[in-house]
Amino acid sequence: MKAAVLVRNGAPDKAFEIQERPMPQAQAQEVCIQVEAFGLNFADVMARRGLYDDAPPKPAVLGYDVIGRIHEVGSEVRDLELGQKVVAMTRFGGYAEYAVTDARAVAVVPEDTPAGEGTALTTQYGTAWFCAEEVTRLHKGEHVLIQAAAGGVGTALVQLAKHRGCIVYGTASTPKQDYLRQMGVDYPIDYRHTDFAEAIRKIRGEAGLDVVFDSIGGASFKKGYKLLGSGGRMVAYGAADMITGGKKSMFRVLKVASGFGLYSPINFLTSSRGVIGVNMLRIADNRPEALKRTLENVVDFYKKGIFKPKTGGEFHIDQLAEAHDFLESRKSMGKVVVVW
Ligand SMILES: NC(=O)c1ccc[n+]([C@@H]2O[C@H](COP(=O)([O-])OP(=O)(O)OC[C@H]3O[C@@H](n4cnc5c(N)ncnc54)[C@H](OP(=O)(O)O)[C@@H]3O)[C@@H](O)[C@H]2O)c1
Repeated sequence: MKAAVLVRNGAPDKAFEIQERPMPQAQAQEVCIQVEAFGLNFADVMARRGLYDDAPPKPAVLGYDVIGRIHEVGSEVRDLELGQKVVAMTRFGGYAEYAVTDARAVAVVPEDTPAGEGTALTTQYGTAWFCAEEVTRLHKGEHVLIQAAAGGVGTALVQLAKHRGCIVYGTASTPKQDYLRQMGVDYPIDYRHTDFAEAIRKIRGEAGLDVVFDSIGGASFKKGYKLLGSGGRMVAYGAADMITGGKKSMFRVLKVASGFGLYSPINFLTSSRGVIGVNMLRIADNRPEALKRTLENVVDFYKKGIFKPKTGGEFHIDQLAEAHDFLESRKSMGKVVVVW
């Protein structure tokens, strides 16, 4: 089978090679999927840049999510069948014609599910669900800030928060403001030109926010935490700020890491505010049942039309470099997908 292999860190046109690789074999609790398309995630950009500690050593096949058909079923898998149309979260290995994954990271989807929508359901809607339904709950009337709200996970969080009846503050760069409005974001904020914390304080006064979803990290995290009112929850699930400018820079990494600030559990207790970190790789590794529950719920919301994933760009495998460039350029809205 063919796979797009990360052979060196750096610019996308030099980073990947299409290579012949051995067919993966499903172990007892796994399935092998014939991949129609795989999704890109921001973590792939960080891995390509050499800024992602969880990425496998090079040469590596990246890829967290695929859509395709079940090609092989492991001996202990009872609830999946050959030929079913599925979406799946892969623990890397997704940039290939065939990918194996734990059967609990797989969900059956309707036959007509488009590639961009299907791949968004796993990593991006799955992450959003885990952040907003498993580790915290959103209640009607709560004031919720979603950073990078026009992105893949951001779009999913906005749809979930609006469904739960929240008042949503969403940040994104200038060209994405209309998209935020169309999604129903109550207060779109262009955070490249406006200080989001000042903008929210003007609207909300001292009452503060109930929940902040932060995927940017560093100073953005610290400012978001300060906006929380009593009972407020900060859900931290990314550090996109580590790669500003598209270059690996230890100075940048240290600046972002120190920008988060220092926190004490005593302060969490006395101010009744908290911070929750989410890493879906750890959940996939150590809580596969929670991942299964998450994906089932996500697909249920998709079938009911509550979740409406947006395809941000569809590229052919020959355009993998362009797809990476596009996601890294911060111009994409919704899911970027690559078809074989
Ligand atoms: N913890 C987990 O398990 C997990 C799982 C999935 C994703 N994530 C994280 O969630 C975030 C979103 O992932 P995604 O795949 O859905 O990507 P995405 O949101 O579609 O793309 C990233 C977006 O973030 C915004 N952004 C803000 N500050 C940025 C910066 N300093 N550098 C680059 N982009 C910046 C950009 O849009 P604007 O500038 O217009 O806002 C950009 O389009 C990423 O940080 C990713 O690492 C975490």
